[in-house]
Amino acid sequence: MKASETKATLSFSNGGQNVELPIYKGTMGPDVIDIRKLYAQTGMFTYDPGFMSTASCESAITYIDGDKGELLYRGYPIEQLATNCDFLETCHLLLYGELPNATQKAGFTKLVTNHTMVNEQMQFFLRGFRRDAHPMAIMTGLVGALSAFYHDSTDITNPKHREIAAIRLIAKMPTLVAMAYKYTIGQPYMYPKNDLSYAGNFLHMMFATPCEEYKVSPVLERALDRIFILHADHEQNASTSTVRLCGSSGTNPFAAIAAGVACLWGPAHGGANEAALNMLHDIQKAGGVDKIGEFIKQVKDKNSNVKLMGFGHRVYKNYDPRAKLMQETCKEVLSELGLENDPLFKLAMALEKIALEDEYFVSRKLYPNVDFYSGIVQRAIGIPVPLFTAIFALARTVGWIAQLNEMIGDPEYKIGRPRQLFEGSPKRDVQPIAQR
Ligand code: CMC
Repeated sequence: MKASETKATLSFSNGGQNVELPIYKGTMGPDVIDIRKLYAQTGMFTYDPGFMSTASCESAITYIDGDKGELLYRGYPIEQLATNCDFLETCHLLLYGELPNATQKAGFTKLVTNHTMVNEQMQFFLRGFRRDAHPMAIMTGLVGALSAFYHDSTDITNPKHREIAAIRLIAKMPTLVAMAYKYTIGQPYMYPKNDLSYAGNFLHMMFATPCEEYKVSPVLERALDRIFILHADHEQNASTSTVRLCGSSGTNPFAAIAAGVACLWGPAHGGANEAALNMLHDIQKAGGVDKIGEFIKQVKDKNSNVKLMGFGHRVYKNYDPRAKLMQETCKEVLSELGLENDPLFKLAMALEKIALEDEYFVSRKLYPNVDFYSGIVQRAIGIPVPLFTAIFALARTVGWIAQLNEMIGDPEYKIGRPRQLFEGSPKRDVQPIAQR
């Protein structure tokens, strides 16, 4: 952290003593005012529910310029990574800070593929779930349960444990998601095939059966790989902050990542891809493109609680760069599958066009986010709608673990412990029950 020469001065209208606060500069983005000593100096907390103006940590992993619509992993633009690299190269970048050279890539790929199988007992644990359980309910349980199976990588204070837990999580998430899917449809689990790529192996575990040869389509493999890259990290979003906060207590990495999975499930976060596709389905059922006007009216009605899912973002006040790439992939996949006239894609394009011209969305700077098109791509690949958020979790795992390890590796890290503005009853005495 580089201290700025400028300092902030906090003054009080009641004549209380001014407080001088240091300001730090990052390599890019807004400076931060250091308020760590504020409570000791003034007896006051700051108040910022929703973290609208609060940087919760220092990080060197991901940078977003929301006004420009720019996303960088370790300095590299997402467009370049999505076009020139694959997911495992991106994982290496996020975890270790640099893109691998060919030798490093081969070594890293070997390391990850060595860990793709899960303990055979996990399938018995999985069997305890109802067949109609939501995949994210299953994933929250399975990921948390990894800590019961891999005792040799649960000490978060040990860098070796952290590294092996990271590799295990990245390697095993596809296996777990595919197992959760196979379980819900009553098909046998397919073991990982380590001669396939990361995305290819996932497609195989999802769609192959022991009865027939399954050939991975290179276009779908590339599309899925791109989905993984685009979702790999997104700085201090809700689930990543959850992972950091959970991990700050010293809990094991599997437990911390399970907390991230649980947070991601919500429709305002990772659950938006499922919600966006369901929304498109509903509009299609109600009459399709002709019903967009009516739907937009509902979205604008504050009493309706209807949102245009896949639109809007806390940080992006411009087109989400991931949405652009996802739209491109969407076109490629639909054309490969001969689905150029897919009614949901056409509906999504029409909805986007109308929303982008509407004063409500323009004035609030609401643009499509990554989830607007990712559902259409996943559906075209054959992934069932309830599994969409689990795919997001699979891809985000590397970001979560990179952020967690960055935090734990920092000698100055502390347990996360926000404070509050108490609005409840002052101290009072318990009355005997007859007098209450
Ligand atoms: N549809 C309609 N109105 C919206 C939407 C939307 N999708 N998003 C924001 N608004 C309105 C909101 O009602 C508010 O209006 P007003 O100023 O009149 O009260 C204004 O825009 C500002 O919104 P906000 O809720 O204060 O913004 P936020 O930063 O708290 O919320 C968000 C961000 C992503 C939760 C929200 O935009 C949203 O719920 N979008 C739909 C869900 C979605 O697509 N989520 C995926 C996010 S990207 C993937 C990920 O990171 O998980």
